[in-house]
Amino acid sequence: MTVTIVGSQLGDEGKGGVVDLWGDAVDVVARYQGGDNAGHTVVEDGTEYKLSLVPSGAVRGKVGVLGNGCVVNPATLFEEIDDLRERGLDPDVRVAQRAHVILPYHRVLDGIEEDVKSESDQEVGTTGRGIGPTYEDKAGRRGIRVGDLLDPELLREKLEYVVPQKQRLAEDVFGVETGEEFDIASLYEEYKRYGERLADEEMTVDSGEFLTDRIESGDQLMFEGAQGTLIDIDHGNYPYVTSSNPTAGGAATGTGLSPGVVGGGDIVGIVKAYLTRVGSGPLPTELGGVEGDTPGYDEQGEGENEELAEYIREEGGEYGTVTGRPRRVGWLDVPMLRHSARTNGFTGLAVNHIDVLSGLDEVKAAHSYDLDGDERDTVPATTERWADCEPNYRTFDGWEDVDWSHVAEEGYDAIPENARTYLEYVSDELDADIYAVGVGPGREETVVVENPLE
Ligand code: IMP
Repeated sequence: MTVTIVGSQLGDEGKGGVVDLWGDAVDVVARYQGGDNAGHTVVEDGTEYKLSLVPSGAVRGKVGVLGNGCVVNPATLFEEIDDLRERGLDPDVRVAQRAHVILPYHRVLDGIEEDVKSESDQEVGTTGRGIGPTYEDKAGRRGIRVGDLLDPELLREKLEYVVPQKQRLAEDVFGVETGEEFDIASLYEEYKRYGERLADEEMTVDSGEFLTDRIESGDQLMFEGAQGTLIDIDHGNYPYVTSSNPTAGGAATGTGLSPGVVGGGDIVGIVKAYLTRVGSGPLPTELGGVEGDTPGYDEQGEGENEELAEYIREEGGEYGTVTGRPRRVGWLDVPMLRHSARTNGFTGLAVNHIDVLSGLDEVKAAHSYDLDGDERDTVPATTERWADCEPNYRTFDGWEDVDWSHVAEEGYDAIPENARTYLEYVSDELDADIYAVGVGPGREETVVVENPLE
């Protein structure tokens, strides 16, 4: 049995907590895309773990796999593993030999390109982790894969081919002086050592083969999507996207298992009860605004409802796990969720942060959009048209702040009635059952309606 966890919005929906919540019944947690751009906060016995690359299940003693669709920065990987070990955990992490490696020059190029784009207001607002440039090299068939780190001769050959090109790109095209990040000899030494450690600790695998063996031996698998559907490179609001496929299809291509395996299990959409966004791009239901990220902020300022946005941002701790940047905040966007449900085929939903909205007089959700006088119930295919959409809101009566830990213990019926009305509206619109409701940051602060693995 498998379950795939997918962000239904723009990332930061609280996927790590859900992965961790259901982790008891899981033997293996596999990531299938992205790299250390993902921030996962896992709270266990009051201790907070912030992870960006190691799958969250590792906190619970599960096998964590970074599938072939991931881009791996070995420096981050070993830093996180060492930190978890220092804190008394013993994470078992396997890395696909087919996964691509993020090298220091990828980070430099990520920064350079964002700077250049910002001159004409076209920056994406990336996390600066070198994600895009690494996937570019993968698609350009000049990437370095995890398997290459195990073969020093091959590693040197590949570095000798690619690094001078990257250096010329930085220097001749972008006019930026380069440093040690482009030094073949030191890159070779450092990355060869990572290869040695990966080999010593027997961490590398053929992910499709490894996971198939685990399924055949009766293990339960969870595929942990990072980021979210609306920042998927194909199904998101291009170009304000990440460079991989967080959507459910990515779980097949990014692990080496068939679509039948992924589709044969549950696909759970993680929904934040409102909306947040890190970086640029349209956000039709945005409240207030964040300087540098909200389009038009420089001319228009923070816009309406800044106080409400600030309230939600503070209550929800809406600051980037990786970058610490304040997140943009908006009301729930149901046309966005319908797009997401169609793309991913959700069999169930986990709705998080319902507690954050408590105490408000009313809660709104965009039910549809108005676009040039026509009503639309899903997002247009182009980002420019999406930016033109005006939300048509449904207004819900607010719900009171309650003892949410008590609610989590008592179960679904203890959730305030108005909040249940809101949840059921979302479930009906997406034609998927509510499997869990997050009522606080801790693992025990979740109302579990159904565990897809039990
Ligand atoms: P990149 O993935 O660093 O290339 O960034 C591309 C876009 O995806 C930017 O708008 C980022 O803010 C966004 N992004 C990347 N990772 C995350 C995440 O984990 N949560 C939310 N947004 C993300």
